Amino acid sequence: MAMTYSGALSKLIEQKQEHVLAFWDELDEAQRVGLLAQVEALDFADVARMRKALAKQVGAASPPLGEFGPAPVLTLAEAGDPAVRELGVDALRSGKVGALLVAGGQGSRLGYEGPKGCYEIGPITHASLFEIHARKILALEQKFNTEVPFYIMTSEANDAPTKAFFEEHAHFGLAPERVTFFVQGMWPGLTPEGNLLLDRPDHIFVSPDGHGGILSALRIRGVLQDMADRGLSTLFYFQVDNPLVEIADPAFLGQHLANDAEISVKVCAKRDAAEGLGVVVARDGHSEVIEYSDLTDAQKEERTADGQLRLLYGSVAIHIFTFGFLKREADQNLPLHVAFKKVPYCDASGALVKPDAPNAYKFEKFIFDVLPDAERATNVEFAREEEFSPVKNAEGNDSPATTRRDMVAKCARWFEECGIAVPRDADGTPTVAIEIDPCYALNAEDLKGKLPANFKIAGDVLLK
Ligand code: UTP
Repeated sequence: MAMTYSGALSKLIEQKQEHVLAFWDELDEAQRVGLLAQVEALDFADVARMRKALAKQVGAASPPLGEFGPAPVLTLAEAGDPAVRELGVDALRSGKVGALLVAGGQGSRLGYEGPKGCYEIGPITHASLFEIHARKILALEQKFNTEVPFYIMTSEANDAPTKAFFEEHAHFGLAPERVTFFVQGMWPGLTPEGNLLLDRPDHIFVSPDGHGGILSALRIRGVLQDMADRGLSTLFYFQVDNPLVEIADPAFLGQHLANDAEISVKVCAKRDAAEGLGVVVARDGHSEVIEYSDLTDAQKEERTADGQLRLLYGSVAIHIFTFGFLKREADQNLPLHVAFKKVPYCDASGALVKPDAPNAYKFEKFIFDVLPDAERATNVEFAREEEFSPVKNAEGNDSPATTRRDMVAKCARWFEECGIAVPRDADGTPTVAIEIDPCYALNAEDLKGKLPANFKIAGDVLLK
């Protein structure tokens, strides 16, 4: 039975949060139903963990990290064994591989209205991030004559527009029955005193529970069951904002399988000590990602005898999970990450206040926190320019401009690998735009097999 007003009131009174119902008398029926549903969904065990995390955060400086060293990494030179790649190809051909995309974030830095995956990034076609990802999956299905189920995590805020976008574009050619959307959890924010906030008279402020929220969402939304029903054993995990990602790359899959890993992590060398990537480390025989902000300057800058950074390799959230590991982790309570943010809230009269300074805490779970739970983890190096150029900011680093530039540069290198000259300026930047649909070619080798004889680049090139 749905929650009643008195049920909600007693649940809230027990937690001294009855202010949530302050505007009850002014709400219409639909608003009341919505608010009661929110109160019903509130898990005060989670809120208790949030308050604890808050007390720790406010109480003292972070505890010392203890003993750890750089994690073992398969370098680019070591990771390209063709026989190992074949293992990945076999896994794809046998239909045991699925793709898992996290797209529930709010994209606040980019400042784009709508799901970030709808952002048009194609340098010539303006293809969206979703289109590029979906076409890569379709290309894998065609190339390996297989099925690669595609799971997309959304949030309450962007689920409907994301689904509508896929519908509108006929799922970009993918079979709709192999595209599954599921919604992640939402968590309330807390004031410094540990109280809930209203952002409307009829609404408790909530925000997505982080990409780590995928674990519980997979279970709660029945996705684990769907994966089991489809016989999937290996899940490739990636983020929506990186169109360079090599989805279910057979060489990476092969390393995961050859090493019998429960989780595999693609890592790249940090540009310099100050780059804000989380680094992969080993502690007590387990892998771990330590966030940039948790390292001291000395740890960030420490160098080995040959002058390299000791903690050189960073994670960019490209992973492979075994299905069994995901299932095991689905019930774990991941640690909470806390951020002090500007959260709009209702004042005593019900009017919305937009604070100028941070006023409330948001809580998130991060996917990399599952790493220490894995019995075996493999870290595999990749070349950054080939696979990582995310759209995070509206301008500057990691913005649409840098991502498009890197997309064109990658295609230009493919052409050159095929022996075709690419016009470049004095700095080496291609002077033409190039875009290749993933279903035309997924790599230079595919391109070589497709290009007409005597192909020359005279202006912008679009291959599809
Ligand atoms: P980011 O941490 O870069 O966040 O997400 P964001 O929401 O895209 O952007 P900002 O920080 O608000 O500017 C990395 C990936 O994790 C997903 C995002 O959609 C993106 O693919 N994510 C993040 C979720 O799926 N859920 C979340 O709660 C947070």
